[in-house]
Amino acid sequence: MKFFIDTADVAAIAELNDLGMVDGVTTNPSIILKSGRDILEVTKEICGIVSGPVSAEVVAMKADDMIKEGRKLAEIAPNITVKVPLTWDGLRACKVLSGEGRMVNVTLCFSANQALIAAKAGATFISPFVGRMDDINLDGMELIADIRQIYDNYGFDTQILAASIRTVNHVTQSALVGADVITAPPAVIKALANHPLTDAGLAQFEKDWAKTGQKIL
Ligand code: G3P
Repeated sequence: MKFFIDTADVAAIAELNDLGMVDGVTTNPSIILKSGRDILEVTKEICGIVSGPVSAEVVAMKADDMIKEGRKLAEIAPNITVKVPLTWDGLRACKVLSGEGRMVNVTLCFSANQALIAAKAGATFISPFVGRMDDINLDGMELIADIRQIYDNYGFDTQILAASIRTVNHVTQSALVGADVITAPPAVIKALANHPLTDAGLAQFEKDWAKTGQKIL
């Protein structure tokens, strides 16, 4: 399973990239706001660090304007993935941009039918928002499993990018139901290494090692 990092925090991306944990990056207008940076500038900087797909989102509402924005964003670097919303305008932009050979991430997906039409429009990635579904007492993980089954039934090669990942359990569940990619904030990726038994075991080893009086180096 690929790990994308859902942030425009360049230092956090670089740190996880050095650990081999970054297969790509996703951003959205809220993430750009949080970064306090210029979208073109910060996206270019991220593309300089990460060789995998870097999603940059259009903000226009009409297909023609989305296409223009998408082409401009795609000029930043060859690994830009243009992110468009799951509306008919977004899907029209997806069809045109993917037809030009660009990677397209269709975002704000909340149903299996939406995922089906995104695949038909040529999406490279579909982004179902797991956490936001859980927020309103819907089952985000069931949605990922349904999309997996539909895509496999018909051989769609659109990749399922489980987004709005908020917890380490979301990561495990996404892997179990066969999401191709998860995108998560750096804190969630970092928490994947945590286990109280690891901490307790290490503390015991440290104590016992001190008692041996030995040194390796
Ligand atoms: O990339 C979009 C998505 O991951 C947003 O997550 O936590 O704002 O629902 P969240």
